[in-house]
Amino acid sequence: MKRRDALKALAISAVAVSSLSAYDEKLIVNKQDMVVKDPKNPTDFEAKHLPAIHIGNKDEKGYTLVEITVGQLGIIHPSEANHWIYKIDLYADDKLVSVVNLEPVISRGYLSARVKLDDVKVLKSTAFCNLHGNFTATLYL
Ligand SMILES: [Fe+2]
Repeated sequence: MKRRDALKALAISAVAVSSLSAYDEKLIVNKQDMVVKDPKNPTDFEAKHLPAIHIGNKDEKGYTLVEITVGQLGIIHPSEANHWIYKIDLYADDKLVSVVNLEPVISRGYLSARVKLDDVKVLKSTAFCNLHGNFTATLYL
């Protein structure tokens, strides 16, 4: 490959990588793990950021629908250009089973996955807010 072709290929791949995310990483200003003092009685601010873990039906292959919405108690976290949930993960016991990356405005805090829950004791999900940090909810099965 000639030097010019190599440079062209490099430029094309750089454009492809940069288009994976539309938002500016500098908008993620808080990456701290936040502590909810009383998970059974969260404040409105905490409820807005806490993942709500819903267990759905089991399919014929034995996979159960697990849905995560952010937040709780009817308080939906916003998805605005400068304030949104940019990632949600889901752990079954200590195993990462699903993660979603979200764009501001066009998508909001939601994840769904089909998971084999037969021997799983704990589901844990973290919602990552670009302004307010990382909020984790736990569901014991
Ligand atoms: Fe937030």
